[in-house]
Amino acid sequence: MARIPIDHLTCMDAARELKWLAKEIAYHDHRYNTQDNPAISDADYDLLRKRNLAIEERFPELIRKDSPSHKVGAPASKRFETTVHHTAMLSLSNAFNCQDVYNFFERARRFLCLSIDYPQEIIAEPKIDGLSLALRYEDGVLVKAATRGNGMVGENVTANARTVSDIPIVLHGKPPKVLEVRGEIYMAHQDFAILNEQRELTGCPCFANPRNAAAGSLRQIDASVTANRALKFFAYSWGEISEMPADTHLDMIERFCYYGFIINPLTKLFYDVEELILYYHDLEKKRCTLGYDIDGVVYKLNSLALQHRLGCVSRAPRWAIAYKFPSEKAITILRNIDIQVGRTGVLTPVARLIPVTVGGVVVTNATLHNEDYIRGISAEGIPIRKNGDIRIGDTIVIRRAGDVVPQVLDILLERRKCGATPYQFPHVCPACNSHAIRRAGEAVYRCTGGLVCPAQVVERICHFVSRNAFDIEGLGIERINFFFCARDDSLMIHSPADIFTLEKRQRNSSIKLENMKGFGETAIRNLYNAINIRRQIMFSRFLFALGIPHVGEMTARRFARHYTSYTAFMNIAQSAKGPDQGNQAWQDMINIDGIGTVVAESVINFYNEVQNIKVLAQLLKEVTVLDEENPSFSFSSPIFGKRIVFTGSLERLSRYEVKNMAERFGAKITSSVSKNTDLIVAGQCAGLKLKKARELGIEIIDEDQWFTLIRKLYLS
Ligand code: IVH
Repeated sequence: MARIPIDHLTCMDAARELKWLAKEIAYHDHRYNTQDNPAISDADYDLLRKRNLAIEERFPELIRKDSPSHKVGAPASKRFETTVHHTAMLSLSNAFNCQDVYNFFERARRFLCLSIDYPQEIIAEPKIDGLSLALRYEDGVLVKAATRGNGMVGENVTANARTVSDIPIVLHGKPPKVLEVRGEIYMAHQDFAILNEQRELTGCPCFANPRNAAAGSLRQIDASVTANRALKFFAYSWGEISEMPADTHLDMIERFCYYGFIINPLTKLFYDVEELILYYHDLEKKRCTLGYDIDGVVYKLNSLALQHRLGCVSRAPRWAIAYKFPSEKAITILRNIDIQVGRTGVLTPVARLIPVTVGGVVVTNATLHNEDYIRGISAEGIPIRKNGDIRIGDTIVIRRAGDVVPQVLDILLERRKCGATPYQFPHVCPACNSHAIRRAGEAVYRCTGGLVCPAQVVERICHFVSRNAFDIEGLGIERINFFFCARDDSLMIHSPADIFTLEKRQRNSSIKLENMKGFGETAIRNLYNAINIRRQIMFSRFLFALGIPHVGEMTARRFARHYTSYTAFMNIAQSAKGPDQGNQAWQDMINIDGIGTVVAESVINFYNEVQNIKVLAQLLKEVTVLDEENPSFSFSSPIFGKRIVFTGSLERLSRYEVKNMAERFGAKITSSVSKNTDLIVAGQCAGLKLKKARELGIEIIDEDQWFTLIRKLYLS
């Protein structure tokens, strides 16, 4: 919308616009902070705030009681207990160009009456695109974690934060008696892609970006859901501290590092404002290689004494400023929608675009997720974008953030061509012509072609060789397609075992790979080497590589840590016939912490399918699956390998947290007591399990004893 220049606004215009801005910004705060579902880009949001501020500067008498300048974010959501921040969690003012940055430091210099040649020490850090979190430690132990909320009152998400491995539960060294560390929770690109892939497979709506995924994952009522999400945390600031351990920002965060936090490795100290701008441009170039989203740079005066003197203005400190990157958005035309078939038969629509440069990268494809996404509605039937469904030929706005697949933000309806019709999602698989069906309650269509569908086989092999699975370099989709379509036996790859027999088959064949286009002698040698070095593989990687539905990396690791030996695991999976049988193997599997009935059933189904057993037998002739190594520090832990049962209600820590602690030190957590149990941790009102443990003569400790034991382990 074209806006009247600020200088031309009448008092009436200004009052009207301030009223509108207050309402509009409050709405977007709510969408962003409470619903984790922003309706506009960060850049557009910043423009609204900037406009609001500029009008207020010209008409200070019109500043409203509900002015967005007085507020930080949205009120805390009602789903969590609220908690008052001892020191307000402030936001940052923004610079929109380098002149704003110069002006900012010039103003600070004048405010502090520093001479022109006074060397200002300035810290530059990436601005992490996640959500801020305050972590309160008392006597070195995490007692509270709170989101920012409205800056004064946040949500108590302690149980959830305790499941994040970057957040120490007990601090290292001698921290101040009271220490509130603040920083950003975020999700790395790779973990975001894995999460969305899993959600798609299970028919759950995908998260639009890593920030939403991080927010949605942290703010879960059930902390065990958070625990299954790969959240990360960078510490960059603080709130209440009983005694300051340092007098500069840099020394403070280095202290945090020593206490056990992760600080961003790109944090740097500068003495010259010019260099701050170079840092910004440098980071903007590196942005897509970092593996997580950043949306700008934050500059902070290093001296805490100067920070103190500068203080704050309404919602932001006078000693720090954010310089955001320009939005990575662009407008292009949707040429076509292609359907890709994944290894589990899910049909995924992909937008083919007229190439366009976004943030320095040429973009030709964008993700469209599923049928509902194209229609512009969520799984619950709620509109997900302003302008409804996406049609071939539409002019669309796309957004690219880091190396995440670009997304379609909206459609420019005014440019829609006459006669453009709604997209009809196909009901047959484009790869094998089998029926594609969408089950009730699911968001995706799946091909029913199973083993006859070439796309599924090729995708399964791609997954099998992918980086976190067998990691076979030089075997990308093109080559897999080539080997899959090859006519001669000596070249065919139709199942994982074929990868490992390729070299031998080639040796005895007259049809040589060397004579094929794209395969030089060195490339072939390298490929064989890359295959042969993977003839030994860790249990967890092997299991993940099999692509069993619902068995992602984390789940595979859980199984591997629990069973240690792949053979033992396979025998159990084959002997467990499913939940109805009530057999020991099934019980044992669902007793593993983090393994539910859906995963267990999926694994058991897989290992009870004759086809799969045949494929596995061939594969196991070629590769050796190594026992899972546990984290090295665990070996020395007195609870390493011990089977522990927690029972009764624990007062100081959630059940989830204690389990998490135990697993960090190599213990195996089970839910039922048997003669194999090594230790019982009994909370208040423990009942039958405690009784049984006494009868079996198993060692029993209470919550305090557990806490003492675990504290010693953390400190050792
Ligand atoms: S400092 C009082 N440093 O940006 C200053 N904030 O737009 C406290 N953020 O609420 C914030 N990276 O959630 C700071 N390196 C960084 C940051 C950072 C991301 C977020 C934070 C803050 C928001 C302000």
